[in-house]
Order: sequence, then C-alpha cells, then structure tokens
Amino acid sequence: MEQIYVFDTTLRDGEQVPGCQLNTLEKVEVAKALERLGVDVIEAGFPVSSPGDFKSIIEISKAVTWPVICALTRAVEKDIDVAAESLKYAKRKRIHTGIGTSDFHIRHKFGATREEIIERAVKAVKYARRFTDDVEFYAEDAGRTDNAYLAQVVEAVIKAGATVVNIPDTTGYCFPDEYGAKIKYLIDHVDMRDAILSTHCHQDLGMATANTLSGVLNGARQVEVTLNGIGERAGNTALEEVVMALASHPHRGYCTHINTQEISSVSRMVSSLMNMPVQPNKAIVGRNAFAHSSGIHQDGVLKNVDTYEIINPQDVGIRDNSIVLTARSGRAALKNRLEILGVEISTEELDTVYHDFLELADKKKNINDEDVLSLLGKNSDDKRIKVEYLQVVSGIDVRNVASIGLRIAGELFEASASGNGPVDAAIKAVKQIIRREMSIQEFLIQAIDRGSDDTGKVHMHVAYNDVVYYGFSANTDIIAASVEAFIDAVNKFTDA
Ligand code: KIV
Ligand code: ZN
Repeated sequence: MEQIYVFDTTLRDGEQVPGCQLNTLEKVEVAKALERLGVDVIEAGFPVSSPGDFKSIIEISKAVTWPVICALTRAVEKDIDVAAESLKYAKRKRIHTGIGTSDFHIRHKFGATREEIIERAVKAVKYARRFTDDVEFYAEDAGRTDNAYLAQVVEAVIKAGATVVNIPDTTGYCFPDEYGAKIKYLIDHVDMRDAILSTHCHQDLGMATANTLSGVLNGARQVEVTLNGIGERAGNTALEEVVMALASHPHRGYCTHINTQEISSVSRMVSSLMNMPVQPNKAIVGRNAFAHSSGIHQDGVLKNVDTYEIINPQDVGIRDNSIVLTARSGRAALKNRLEILGVEISTEELDTVYHDFLELADKKKNINDEDVLSLLGKNSDDKRIKVEYLQVVSGIDVRNVASIGLRIAGELFEASASGNGPVDAAIKAVKQIIRREMSIQEFLIQAIDRGSDDTGKVHMHVAYNDVVYYGFSANTDIIAASVEAFIDAVNKFTDA
C-alpha cells in the first residue's frame, strides 16, 4: 500500500471562516482530537496574523506529541521568524511558506514578474530551512498557473530545500482531469527525488474531493483537508470524504494513518465548537449519511447491508442506527433496533410494543433509541447525571444561593449552597450531591456573537484522580452553561 499523508488545516484554512474562530483552549482540544484521529500534520495557524494564532501554536505544540505541527507564512522573512518562534515547543515542526504563482496573482497582487516570484520563493524557502529541515512551499493559485511555469517554480523551491510542494487549487476552479494532469505534469517534468507533492483543493465548484483524489491517482502523496470540509468561501476538501474514499477502495492501493472510528466524534466536536452545523446529507458525517428510511431500503438493508451500504457506519464511529424508525417502519425494523439496544422480547411482546410504537410514530416523525426504550419502560441514559432544575439567587448586596436537582440513575437528588458568586454557589451545590475530590482547573466563558441575548459557551477542565476531564456546554444562561459543562466533565469519569 502507498502511504498518503494527511495534512489537516481545520485550524488554519477552516478557522479563517467568519464566525468559526476558536480561542486557544478550544484549538488545543481540537488539536488533541486530531492527534487521536491520526493526522500526520496539523496546520495550527498563521502566527504573524494575530497574537491569538501565535499563542495557540505555542500551546498546541506543547499539548500534541505525534503529528508534525505546521505554521503558515507568506514568503516574507518576518513571517518566517514569527513562525519559527511559535513552533519552538513542537516536537516535530514544519514551516509552510509560499507565494501566488498564477499570472493573476503575479500581476495584480504583487505587480511583479514571473522571475521575481521565483526569486522570492527560493529566498523564502532557504530562509525557512535555517529553522527546520521540514519546509513546505505553496504555489498559491497553482490551479490557474501555467504548467510549464509552475514546473520551474517547483523545481526551484525543491532545489532551495522544500521537502513538500503544495499545489493549491485556491479558487476551486479545476476539473478533476485537469488537476490530475497538472500533478502528473509536475511529476514528469521535475526531479521529485527530494520532495513530495501535496494537494490543497477548494470547493467552489463542488469538486474538491474529486480533484484531491485525482491528484493522488496522479502522484501526490500528501492531501490537505479539513474536518467537515470547512474553509474559505465554499470550503476546503473534507478529510472524511478523501480518507473514506481511499479506505473503501483498497484495490487502488492507498492507505492513511487515520483511525477512521474517530471521524464521527471529531466531526461533531469541530461542528459544535466552530458553530458550523453539518448539512444532514453531508457524505460520511451528515446525520442522514447512513440512514435508511424508506420501507424498501430498510427491508433490503436488514436482509443484507451491502444492498444499500458501501461503508459500515461503525468504521467511522457511528453506532449502528442506520434504520430510521418512522411510521413507515415494519416490525422487523423495530425488532432489529431492540436487538441492537440489547433487548430481547417475545413475539407477543413485540406485537404490543409495535402497536405503541405506531401510535408514537404518528405523533413524532423520528423515533430515537430513548423513545424505543421508554416504550419498554427502560431508559438507556439512566447512568448519566442530568440537571433536572437549577435556581439561583444572585445580585448586588445579596447572598448568592443556588438550589439544584440532579437526576442520577433515575433518582432525583437535591441540594442548596451559597458561594462567592452564582456559579460558585451552583457548583458547591453540585458537589454536595456528587461527593468526590474534584477541582476545576480551567474555566472559560465566551460569547458566541455579541449582544445581551447571546449564547455563552463554557469550557471547563475538571481534575479527578490526577486526570483532567474536559466539559463543554452552550446556553443563553451562563450559570446554567457553567453547571452543565461541569456535569459534562463529571459524566466522563463517573461513566468510566
Ligand atoms: O488555498 C490556498 O491557496 C491556501 C494557501 C495559503 C495554502 O490556503
Ligand atoms: Zn486554502
């Protein structure tokens, strides 16, 4: 199998999207999730662009061990100096420098000549090599760059020391055959013994994944991608699509280091932290990607999944819930769902439950696992701690007091406490119910947009038994969000 390196740019190209900005703590959480996912390179930011990006690269470098940490720069010495400084704690580091190479960029952006651009590119690569042996060069707008000139650029930067050369289709303009031919042209015309080519395809015409795969088929050995395909304008190439396309076609002979079972959870994490919902029909990670709702499809899938499924949902970390229970579902579909939930019932019991199920399905469009279990008087969520209610008295010159009700294993526990503020009072009340030696290590409240009607995001690190657990919640009430984030973290170790 030929190794394809996965370069994730969710935290750089993805994070450039308006409204998707993350704070340092959130970026570190995403970077740790990307490490679990098995990406080879994390592009952690564009450090000269903001102190926030700089700080995030420092913190990500400290928090992450295995993947190469990469920082983006323009072909400018100052950018490269800042990138090198931001990467000082990285165990393995890469500087990603580059410049526009299409005539549009050369004339209109730089007012330069083709020769001058090659000079600047070579100078930047040589300068970056002073700080690391791992230097990637990007030829911005390579998609619209004349192939013969692009080959001259690629040859020059490899001679200058670039070990990866990125061929971005910055505007998402190319057709797959055209992009593949570009990669092949470079492989055929440039001495590639000391470097590999990378794809970086945008989605403006909906061809990002097709172009990336065409690049791979023609010799590119690194793919630049983002989770859920987020990125500038229409987005970047979706990691999950490229990885699963390669994994689903093993006869093509390509493999990646991606632990595909992590895809679904990292996708959800990125979507919720970046406030970017995933469209329901999005390939691989959309909520309908593995859902069969028509009676004919359900029947086929229950007889043999291969009839309508090309990927096993469990391979991307989705619990088998491909049969969507609706009023059109038959007894077999309900029985199948009960078996998955570990419930065995007799034919007579199934008749009764099926009758109740149809009544419920008439009122509720989709029936979820909790609904099915409650039809049987069982609740799968029993073990988790849930906030039943929270009441807080706070203000100026009054005592801050909180009363809380937590439901644990179906039973309601209540407590009240006072504190030096409403959050302190509420957390103290929680601790009266959950009596464990736990302490809050990190606590961050952040508004998503602006305005007094905004939603607050809360991130919390809770230490218990020398392990730090991460909790998150978003709520228009920041005290409720704080308690929910605390409970989210607690649920991780009380489950364990
Ligand atoms: O799309 C692009 O060209 C880029 C480069 C900066 C790599 O994102
Ligand atoms: Zn890009």
